[in-house]
Amino acid sequence: MSDLLKTTAEQRARKVVLRLEKIDRIFNQGPDQLEILKSVDLEIHQGEIVALVGPSGAGKSTLLQIAGLLEKPDGGLVSIGGKRSTDLSDLARTEMRRSHIGFVYQYHHLLPEFSALENVVMPQMIKGLKRAEAEERGLELLRCLGLEKRGDHRPARLSGGEQQRVAIARALANV
Ligand SMILES: Nc1ncnc2c1ncn2[C@@H]1O[C@H](COP(=O)(O)OP(=O)(O)O)[C@@H](O)[C@H]1O
Ligand SMILES: [Mg+2]
Repeated sequence: MSDLLKTTAEQRARKVVLRLEKIDRIFNQGPDQLEILKSVDLEIHQGEIVALVGPSGAGKSTLLQIAGLLEKPDGGLVSIGGKRSTDLSDLARTEMRRSHIGFVYQYHHLLPEFSALENVVMPQMIKGLKRAEAEERGLELLRCLGLEKRGDHRPARLSGGEQQRVAIARALANV
């Protein structure tokens, strides 16, 4: 127990990588106003692994889309790495997503016309990495995920689990 508490205290002392302050999200549905998120505060520290748990419809995806800068809240502040993201231009938000955030969706969203390796390296190349550099990192990630022999497969020639692992490699390429 004391070990657990110690870890938590250590984590608290670490840098805050994501901060949500008083986040509101309201959806207009016909005559109804649905207050899905109301003044939500959240702090995530470097190295922390956090699971967001709640019943279906509670607002988990809505919160993740706001934290991941895919959507804007109706009120409140989002800061990533100490930088306030809520006021950034759309282009700056896109750049922040590209260089600091990795997404693994429920559906893999791999590009069907490209190989597993190309799917992993493409966001890195768009970010400005040279192909050889991006491929070296991409191959290392595929190897870590047990996919060293699947780099040249298109998504349709991978199993469902393998497709998900390629999507995980793509998300981790940023880290
Ligand atoms: N664009 C939208 N317009 C209206 N209501 C929405 C919209 N998006 C989500 N909702 C509602 O917000 C609630 C939370 O959705 P969501 O964040 O996807 O839940 P969770 O991921 O926790 O299952 C749901 O009740 C859903 O119907
Ligand atoms: Mg959801």
